Amino acid sequence: MTNLTVLVIGSGGREHALAWALGRDPGVVVHVAPGNPGTAAVGTNHPVDAMDGAAVADLAVALGAGLVVIGPEAPLVAGVADDVRARGIPVFGPSAAAARLEGSKAFAKEIMAAAGVPTADARLCLSMDEVVAALDEFGAPYVVKDDGLAAGKGVIVTGDRDAAVRHAASCRRVIVEEFLDGPEVSLFALSDGTDVLPFEPAQDFKRVGDGDTGPNTGGMGAYTPLPWAPPGLVAQVVATVIQPTVDELRRRGTPFVGLVYAGLALTSRGLRVVEFNARFGDPETQPLLTRLKTPIAEVLLAAATGRLAGHAPLEWGSGAAVGVVVAADGYPEAPRKGDPITGADVEGVFHAGTALDADGRLVSAGGRVLTVVGTGDDLAAAREAAYAKVALIDLPGGFHRTDIALKAAQTGTVPFPVQEKA
Ligand code: AMP
Ligand code: GLY
Repeated sequence: MTNLTVLVIGSGGREHALAWALGRDPGVVVHVAPGNPGTAAVGTNHPVDAMDGAAVADLAVALGAGLVVIGPEAPLVAGVADDVRARGIPVFGPSAAAARLEGSKAFAKEIMAAAGVPTADARLCLSMDEVVAALDEFGAPYVVKDDGLAAGKGVIVTGDRDAAVRHAASCRRVIVEEFLDGPEVSLFALSDGTDVLPFEPAQDFKRVGDGDTGPNTGGMGAYTPLPWAPPGLVAQVVATVIQPTVDELRRRGTPFVGLVYAGLALTSRGLRVVEFNARFGDPETQPLLTRLKTPIAEVLLAAATGRLAGHAPLEWGSGAAVGVVVAADGYPEAPRKGDPITGADVEGVFHAGTALDADGRLVSAGGRVLTVVGTGDDLAAAREAAYAKVALIDLPGGFHRTDIALKAAQTGTVPFPVQEKA
């Protein structure tokens, strides 16, 4: 890539990884707004609110940005991509209309029904009577979701019917759906509105505790590749999930330009979509971009400008990458902030909830504080590398899961049911 100025919007671990990956390309100048202490080391931070579309567009114009990459879902759902596009600047990130794929679970279900994409059977409930009827229709384990954005915390999966009812009562609009068994896979694909280009799959660990215990979080770790994944999985997901979804959004006059994140369950009855996100996943992006060999600026710009047709497949390093999230005391319920962090100034340590205090010291500033990525020839080696870096980090009260990628590294497989055609 020659002489491209890229503005990345957001301040999390995903944005640090994007800024880092963009900055590996000597022709790319990286700016981030608002960014964090990690992104400041790989680009130039600007104190602009990610949710303020006019301010983001003004900054992009002032910097002479040739590409704006919007990381988080909230500005996408709020239409920040539309504000930047209106100024004639290429944007990697969907319009508000297309970002509803993530912003409303009911909309995502409607698109999937129209496009014939397999997903959990679900009921949108407008009263507690409807909630109770749906819980009894599907039975335990109960799955109850807030219809809107909830930063990974709007969903509970529980065998406790009272807890399911209580969660439903706390939601604005409620979706109750059937439980999907089987392992989960995150598959990302770049979309230019018409054509798509898939990533390699990754797996995320949603529950806060070892052994998949405790409440759901935004994600406590991730790894790639998946040695246990059935052959042909990526092609199957593109053909049965991602391309039909992108086609349906284009048919409706709201083409999706950006990253389609399909969260999938490989169930005993075939693959099913658990959720769509309209942006790179966090923490999957950190290990994925660590393994990506294709220069990322060129391919994000191709997606943003409608030029993915006939693009070469993405190229990947042959080894494995494992990302372990270091979380703050009290995450996810009530993360404590302001604790000093040491040992984080290491390659592969991506900042998420960090800040500098008045004395310029690195402190915690969010629930998920860091994502620590290790690489190696295989998952066992990548795990070892990641946990060796984690061991050198000090964050009072901080904690991490010790079993990220463990099963997959030990056995090369995780048990998963035989796939029928979806
Ligand atoms: P979502 O925000 O829809 O991705 O849900 C968060 C997490 O809850 C998912 O990654 C799954 O681990 C779990 N989950 C969501 N829906 C279901 C379902 N229908 N069956 C089983 N687990 C689910
Ligand atoms: N890793 C889950 C998410 O990004 O939503």
